[in-house]
Amino acid sequence: MESLRPVSVIGSAERIEDFVAKVVQECQNGLPSRALHLATQVPWHEIGEHVARYADRVQAPYTRRDTGIDLRLPRAAVTVERLSGSVFVCGHRTGPPVSPEDGEPLPPPGGAAEVWRQAEALMELAAGAGARDEKPARVEGLLKHDSWLVATLASDVLNRMGVPAVPRFVRDHDPGAPAGSHRPADGSATEAWEARISVDEYSFFEAVHPAYAMQMVELGRMVRTHAARLPDRILDVGSGPGLPTVMLTEMFPDARIDAVEPSPAAFPHLLRTAEARRITAHRTGITEYTGPEDFPLAVSVGSSHHLDTRMFLRGLKRHTVPGGLIVVADEMISRFTSEEERSRIIADHHLSYIDETLAHVREEDLPPAERRRLRALREADRRTPEALHRLLDEARRDRRFYPGDESPWQRVRFTVLELEALVAGLDYDVERKTYPDNFIALAADEGLELLAHRRVHATLGTSDRDAGTHVFALRRPP
Ligand SMILES: C[S@@+](CC[C@H](N)C(=O)[O-])C[C@H]1O[C@@H](n2cnc3c(N)ncnc32)[C@H](O)[C@@H]1O
Repeated sequence: MESLRPVSVIGSAERIEDFVAKVVQECQNGLPSRALHLATQVPWHEIGEHVARYADRVQAPYTRRDTGIDLRLPRAAVTVERLSGSVFVCGHRTGPPVSPEDGEPLPPPGGAAEVWRQAEALMELAAGAGARDEKPARVEGLLKHDSWLVATLASDVLNRMGVPAVPRFVRDHDPGAPAGSHRPADGSATEAWEARISVDEYSFFEAVHPAYAMQMVELGRMVRTHAARLPDRILDVGSGPGLPTVMLTEMFPDARIDAVEPSPAAFPHLLRTAEARRITAHRTGITEYTGPEDFPLAVSVGSSHHLDTRMFLRGLKRHTVPGGLIVVADEMISRFTSEEERSRIIADHHLSYIDETLAHVREEDLPPAERRRLRALREADRRTPEALHRLLDEARRDRRFYPGDESPWQRVRFTVLELEALVAGLDYDVERKTYPDNFIALAADEGLELLAHRRVHATLGTSDRDAGTHVFALRRPP
């Protein structure tokens, strides 16, 4: 059991819903137990009403007692207990996890044959871990490819060959006026991703994230392997500024894409990205989205850990036709059994992406501010949360742009975003990463059949179920 120090004071009854949601998700995502002690003067019956309201919202059966209320979810049991001057929210994990398989792929869509050919050749090079015999110069030509998928993949492969490359479309990106410096209007649709991450920078630096395009190729392969036919409509959930959404249009040019994105900071970028493409952007969260419920394919990239995983899966399922396909790509961490262990895994997982991104960047090639940042990132003590907070404070300073500079400065700046994500994860405001077996178990709870699972990039551990970038194909039963 965790400590009983009051973590917060709650002045109004509705605040209890956030804390119950947090404990539910912690246990759902794999912590054996989690307890929060909250100081409050709010009358118990009001607290109870709001706990019941939350339970109704997530469709969890509950029992009310004189001194408490008990919620039962498929993988978590949570009790809210009244104490004098406070409430105690305590949850524990219930139920075990599951496992996967594969088939014959559909041919790529005609209009995307060249993109698929290049992508598969690059994936083969990437699998050759460094591909020492290959000439970087041949791959370097692909950094200028019109396809963002191919250019991003080429940059990743080059990095594996020891060349700290940046795709041309990222170099040429004109940030213009900051599109999303504002905060969310309400907390319901998004957990303020943009309050912790610099979305304006994310909108293009993210392309140098290790395995960013590889996850999309694997997602596309799973669609071709498991869909009954090539999709003509795709729902993309949590599109952010829209990089993977564009990659989807390149792999499946005949499909129309509905992109769901609640963040007021990311949405203007998404609108810009969607222009002149077969993408319709909707500014809403998946749990509130009221669009069609018969998509043959729903996908999501990097977003499953941005909301309650169960509500995320339920939302995707609701909008997918019976028998339809759901493909989710996201970062997952290794299995954990305590909060401390999880924090260490989250830190090491993000630090692995950071180290890989910076591995071949040379200080002397960079503008002075980026040189200093690189040195700080490489030399800092990274062992404790406090040290990581300090490093982030330093790394965040001076974020100018260098139009026309051909050094790989974007790689350094991407790692600031990764550090922001790391620290947000430690603070647990935004981060809800779970481990693959648990994600599979949650999907099974929601009646989704697992068709395939692959770890496309490893950050920690040697097993397919350890930390890294993962892709899952799920089917909504007919
Ligand atoms: C890490 S970003 C991923 C963006 C993009 N798909 C990518 O891979 O670059 C996670 C996204 O999930 C979005 N998100 C948060 N809550 C959501 C919700 N309830 N429904 C849909 N998306 C949500 C965030 O606003 C954010 O844009």
